[in-house]
Amino acid sequence: MKLAIIGGGNLGTAIALGLVKSGTNASTISITRRNLFKIDHLKKDGFALTTNNIEAIKDASVIFLCVQPKQLSHLLDEIRSSLKPEQILVSTITGISTEEIAQHAAVKIPIIRAMPNTAIAIGKSMTCLCAKDADEKHLSVVKNIFNKLGETLVIEERLMKAATVLAASGIAFAMRYIRAATQGGIQMGFDAEEAQLIAAQTASGAASLLLTRESHPEMEIDKVTTPEGCTIAGLNEMEHQGLSSALIKGIITSFDRINNIKK
Ligand SMILES: NC(=O)c1ccc[n+]([C@@H]2O[C@H](COP(=O)([O-])OP(=O)(O)OC[C@H]3O[C@@H](n4cnc5c(N)ncnc54)[C@H](OP(=O)(O)O)[C@@H]3O)[C@@H](O)[C@H]2O)c1
Repeated sequence: MKLAIIGGGNLGTAIALGLVKSGTNASTISITRRNLFKIDHLKKDGFALTTNNIEAIKDASVIFLCVQPKQLSHLLDEIRSSLKPEQILVSTITGISTEEIAQHAAVKIPIIRAMPNTAIAIGKSMTCLCAKDADEKHLSVVKNIFNKLGETLVIEERLMKAATVLAASGIAFAMRYIRAATQGGIQMGFDAEEAQLIAAQTASGAASLLLTRESHPEMEIDKVTTPEGCTIAGLNEMEHQGLSSALIKGIITSFDRINNIKK
C-alpha cells in the first residue's frame, strides 16, 4: 500500500518517521512540500520526496493532508481533479470538517479526519478519528496506520473539537503539571534535572497504571493515601486551592475558544 503525505511539516514528517520506525518501508511513502530542501534530511531514509502533489497522490491508496488550515483550499483546488473514489483522504487539519473537504473534492471519496497529538513523533499519540463516506474497511485501514503511532479512538465528528482540546492541547496541560511538580521538587532539594526526571516518570507511571489496569484514578489514589499521611494532606490542600476545578475550567475555556475561532 502506497501512502502520500501532503505537507511534510512537523506533523507530516512525524507521521512518516513514526510509520517507518514501526516497520513500514519508507519507499512506499511519498512526502511533499513546496520548500523541499527543508526535508532534505529525510532523503537518506528512502522516502519519495517531491514538490509535485499530483505525482505523489497518483498511486497512493491513502492520502494524508497535513497542511495548515489556511493552506487547504489552495491545495484542494490543485489536487481535486486527481482524487479517485478508491483512495482514502485523511485530513489532520484542525477545525476543518469532513463536509468542507468533501465540497472541494471533485469525486465522492472516503474522508477521515484525524486528530493526533505531538506524541505521535514517538509512537505515543492519542489519535481521534471520524469519518464521512467511509465504510468499516476504510476506517480500519486508517486505524491500522494510526495504531502504529499510538492509540486510536473513533468518535462522532461533533466531538472533534473536544478531542482537539483533550488530546492535542492536553499535551500542554500535562506538561504544565509536570513542570509545576518539577518546581516543587527543586524547592525540596533536587536539582532541576533530577526533579524533572522524577516528575515526568511518575506522571508516565500514573498514566500507565490507568491504561494497563483499566482502573479508576480514585482507586489508584486510595492506594497511596495513608490515613493522616502526607499524600492526603497535600492532595486535599491542592483541591482546596482548586486543582481539579482549575483543570476543568481551563479545558472548558480552551473549548469555548476553539468554538469561536474565526476561519
Ligand atoms: N503539530 C501537531 O501536533 C498537530 C496535531 C494535530 C493536528 N495538526 C494539524 O496538522 C496540520 C499540520 O500541522 P503542522 O504542525 O505539521 O504544520 P506545519 O509544520 O506548518 O506543516 C505544514 C506543511 O505543509 C506544507 N505545505 C503547505 N502548502 C503546501 C502545498 N500546497 N503542497 C504541499 N505542501 C504544502 C508546508 O511546507 P512548504 O511551505 O514548504 O510547502 C509545511 O511544511 C495543521 O492543520 C494542524 O492544525 C497538527
